[in-house]
Amino acid sequence: MKKLIAGNWKMNGSLAANEALLLALGQGLDRASTGIARCDAAVCVPTPYLAQVQALKAVQPGLANLEVGAQDVSAHPAGAYTGEVSAAMLKELGCRYVIVGHSERRQYHFETDALVADKTRAALASGITPIVCIGETLTEREAGRTEEVIKRQLAAVIRAHGHCISEIVLAYEPVWAIGTGKSASPHEAQAVHFVLRAQLKAATDQSARVRILYGGSMNVANAASLLAQPDIDGGLIGGASLKAQDFLTIIAAAKI
Ligand code: 13P
Repeated sequence: MKKLIAGNWKMNGSLAANEALLLALGQGLDRASTGIARCDAAVCVPTPYLAQVQALKAVQPGLANLEVGAQDVSAHPAGAYTGEVSAAMLKELGCRYVIVGHSERRQYHFETDALVADKTRAALASGITPIVCIGETLTEREAGRTEEVIKRQLAAVIRAHGHCISEIVLAYEPVWAIGTGKSASPHEAQAVHFVLRAQLKAATDQSARVRILYGGSMNVANAASLLAQPDIDGGLIGGASLKAQDFLTIIAAAKI
């Protein structure tokens, strides 16, 4: 399966900084050695910058194959939901992906498993691939509850979308590894991905099609060994996606 390397810029960037980053990414992707032909790559940017990224893609040949995504979507199709952005709006702005259920939204915006399932539905209904994030906290891991937590989070999405579960991208992001510089080891990550694959297998005969990304302090030093694991089908990259050379190196590591 072709791997997917997706950058999650989170709430970072400016018009000037984005332009510099995308210019450098475009130049790097233009060179065959970066391997984008052998993996899919995307950047999930703050919503106000989606139009800027599309405009830069239109003039920079190196960015032609770089997909664009958003970081959140409303569960509602339209209406009196001040501040929210619908999946149809994201689609109009050329989004191929949208991250849903990131732990930062679960933690700081109190998003529940049910809301994450609703947002997944909204994305799928508009033809956008949701990158559904799940993962345990440090407390849950230390209490030996990792498997229970990730299975519960995935089950909520499978319950709502079992018929089209093969259309999602899943991202395992252990909360304790996000932004901490402390990645899960390839062995730890693979063990969880194996459990997730088995759960998907029980839900659909298309489970082999579902990409399961790893996210949490993936960087130039650990990307190759994480991406070499049999059930790790790509990465969701935070901090390292803001540095063009690091992101390009991770994309190149995904060719295996
Ligand atoms: P870091 O790569 O900065 O740890 O962030 C991971 C993440 O949350 C991606 O969604």
